[in-house]
Order: sequence, then C-alpha cells, then structure tokens
Amino acid sequence: MELKIAIQKSGRLHDGSLQLLRECGIKVSNGNNQLRVKASNFPLEVFFLRDDDIPEYVQDGVADIGFAGENVVAERNKTVALEEKLEFAKCRLSIAVPKNGEIHSVKNLEGKRIATSYPHLLSEYLKKQNIKASIHEISGSVEIAPKIGLADAICDLVSSGSTLFSNELEELETILQSEAVLISNKNLEDEKRNLLNQLLFRIRSVKKAINNKYVLLNAPNDKLEVIFKLLPGMRSPTVLPLAESGWSSVHSVISETDFWNIIEQLKEAGAQGILIVPIEKMII
Ligand code: PRP
Ligand code: ZN
Repeated sequence: MELKIAIQKSGRLHDGSLQLLRECGIKVSNGNNQLRVKASNFPLEVFFLRDDDIPEYVQDGVADIGFAGENVVAERNKTVALEEKLEFAKCRLSIAVPKNGEIHSVKNLEGKRIATSYPHLLSEYLKKQNIKASIHEISGSVEIAPKIGLADAICDLVSSGSTLFSNELEELETILQSEAVLISNKNLEDEKRNLLNQLLFRIRSVKKAINNKYVLLNAPNDKLEVIFKLLPGMRSPTVLPLAESGWSSVHSVISETDFWNIIEQLKEAGAQGILIVPIEKMII
C-alpha cells in the first residue's frame, strides 16, 4: 500500500515541497517531465500536478494527500481536511490598484471592475465589506489588466511585491494570508492514515528543528542561575564543567523567534563564547 501525494508541478510551491520531503528523509526524483514518481525509501507515490487542481484531486481521492497553497484551498472550496501548516511559500492575496489613481480606499471600489483569478474569495470579501463591484475572472497575467483597460483594480497573490512594483500597482488591502499546507482526503483508509501519521511526525520534527537553534555558551558558575532562567531548553539545560575551575559550559535549545532577544540577555548575564548551531531534526 502506498500513500499518494499531489505536489505542484512547477511554480511557487514546487521546490519547497520537494525539499520538505527530502528533509523528511524521503528520496524522490524531481519529476522532470514525469507525472508520477515513486519514493525509493517510503511507501509514497508523488503526482506532479497544477497547484489549482490539487484540492479537487485530494477531495476525489485521486491523491490521498497534497501540498497546496492555502490560497488555492480557500478559493476552490473543496471538502478536504487541513492537516498541517508547512511554513513555506508564504504570500498574501491582496487587492491592488494603479499608483496615483483615483482609488484610495476599499470604499472607492464601489462600481469598479476588478480582475482576479480568485473570484470566490474576492466576492466573499466584497460581500462582507458591502461593496458592489464587477469581478472579471482571468486565469493569468492579472497584473496587466489595469494597463490594458480591462479593469480598475486587481486581486492577486503578492509575495516579494516585485510584480506589483513593475506594473505600477500598489496594495490597497490584504484579504488572505497564505502558506503551503498539507491537506488530506476525508475518508482515508486506516493503513493510509497510519502512513500519513508517520509522514506528519517527520514533518513536525523538521518544522521544530527549523524553528529552534542549539545554543552553547560558557559562564562563571555564580551566573548560572540567571542564565538557566533565560534558557528553558527542552527539559533543562545541560551543564558541563570547563577545565578552568569556576566555569561551566551550558547547552540548550532556543526558539528562532526570541533568539536575538535572548542572546542579548545572555551576554548581559555574563555568558561568553556563545555558539548557535542549527538543528537537523528535533523529536520531543
Ligand atoms: C503570483 C501572482 C504574481 C506573482 C506575485 O503568481 O499572480 O504574478 O505571483 O509574486 P511577487 O510579489 O513575488 O512578484 P504565481 O507565481 O503564484 O503563479 P500562479 O498563479 O500561476 O500559480
Ligand atoms: Zn496556479
């Protein structure tokens, strides 16, 4: 029995999806001109598909699970289960308008034409804002619509912002934040659910490792109490005596988010020779 996973054939999610599988220790070739490949060391079959189609394939059970953008999952509105946020391919769905134009607020969109590949999400948003505008669904190159006179505004994905910038557009409002997520079919048989749980366990270990750093530092023994308070670690920090008497080496784990803040406080508390090391996998 194999678990069938759908991932994007090419585009924003493709590289991150393959990289995540690799970090989970699953070997997959990159699918050059192939619709499907089998992993060599995990019962996984990978289907390379258009990202927009992935929620439907997962809903219908053509694939058991998929890596998809939250934007596509929300727009397509299919019946799938959300298993895990994957923390890559972060972007946002925004309404953008020509720079120096006459639209300065969401209210100004009343009666205007908006081009988008996300008609469902846009119309929900406009309904909530109580704005009537006409939605022009186009499947690609949405950013050129205002320039060619097809629309007054657009609603499209933004990540670096360079597409908007080079088309002289500016963001008016973000309507959805998005990142890659793992979705699954709602009726997985037990054996497949077990395989998915194994994969999820690996994904969570990879995510935790990315979000944490291993820290090593030296400190005089009379400063250790203060330093321990700054370093909760997984259980409690490891302490080893240095060859120089009265000094210790302290090992612990800190999260990426409060990293710089904690380093400052450790220095102030008397820590020296602080080393920060990446963690490959973290299992707790
Ligand atoms: C989106 C969007 C823009 C671009 C924005 O397309 O339509 O073209 O990304 O990114 P930027 O802010 O970094 O310039 P995407 O690559 O997702 O293609 P798709 O809609 O065909 O999947
Ligand atoms: Zn797409």
